[in-house]
Amino acid sequence: MPLVTTTEMFEKAYKGGYAIGAFNVNNMEIVQGITEAAQELNAPLILQVSKGARQYANHTYLMKLVEAAVIETGLPIALHLDHGNSFELCKSCIDGGFTSVMIDASSKPFEENIALTRQVVDYAHDHGVVVEAELGTLAGIEDEVNVSAEDSSYTRPEDVQEFVQRTGCDSLAIAIGTSHGAYKFKPGTDPKLRLDILEEVEKRLPGFPIVLHGSSSVPQEFVKMINEYGGNMPGAIGIPEEQLRMAARMAVCKINIDSDLRLAMTASIRKYFAEHPDHFDPRQYLGPARDAIREMVKHKIKDVLGCDGKA
Ligand code: G3H
Ligand code: 13P
Ligand code: ZN
Repeated sequence: MPLVTTTEMFEKAYKGGYAIGAFNVNNMEIVQGITEAAQELNAPLILQVSKGARQYANHTYLMKLVEAAVIETGLPIALHLDHGNSFELCKSCIDGGFTSVMIDASSKPFEENIALTRQVVDYAHDHGVVVEAELGTLAGIEDEVNVSAEDSSYTRPEDVQEFVQRTGCDSLAIAIGTSHGAYKFKPGTDPKLRLDILEEVEKRLPGFPIVLHGSSSVPQEFVKMINEYGGNMPGAIGIPEEQLRMAARMAVCKINIDSDLRLAMTASIRKYFAEHPDHFDPRQYLGPARDAIREMVKHKIKDVLGCDGKA
């Protein structure tokens, strides 16, 4: 099976009340850990590449790693550009074989967001590629952009119909209280997503797939391990998994996870070096890191997203 778009995945996910995991990939071990988990659980998958990942690892290397994962697993896998910030970047990924792109013009005024998104949609649809757009602004850090909590803003449900109609986008990322990175909330708070906004959006766009960015739950077992083995990440807190489960049962069809992969990998490598200070073969520490990613992704697929057995 070749790489697929997200169209069929999202149709099934919407009807079935579950979500597809969109995991960020930067190297071979990350691709393998994620895809081994999905294969074990027969889950559809979105592998996504940020602008920074593409700069780090190179478009062709990432493309070929993902193609290898398709061959090895036989799963429906979509290859998606995460947070594309220009028409040129989106075009380059479309021309280079991605099956889905995000144009993130969410920091621009409404009309500019619409114009740029429309331009990407026209080109993408001509090439059989689907487009995710964003309305509302998440807090946190992505590539060079750092949005403070004060500058973030929830999506206005009254805007979504016009936005989707005028842009022709295939899915919409909304801001309901998630944020990028490992420090999402203040310690001691009881984080809640604005599921009421999601509900309002769903009413206005029945059947339309919604995307949640910034959805790492920052498992405390990893934070503890990192702190125990020489790291320093006090106060790292994520989205409660129960909140994500509820969103997945609603209109959310794609849930983005990157920070949890980084934490799983870093915790494993820190532990390995603390216990084996004399080792220096990368396979010895990257192998367990890949295993840690696999186990974490299995948990997400089964216990949070609910897409196990849906490939
Ligand atoms: O939302 C951003 C993702 O976590 C990608 O992060 O731009 O550092 O690759 P990155
Ligand atoms: P996290 O930082 O919560 O993993 O979010 C990742 C993301 O939204 C990628 O686009
Ligand atoms: Zn994101």
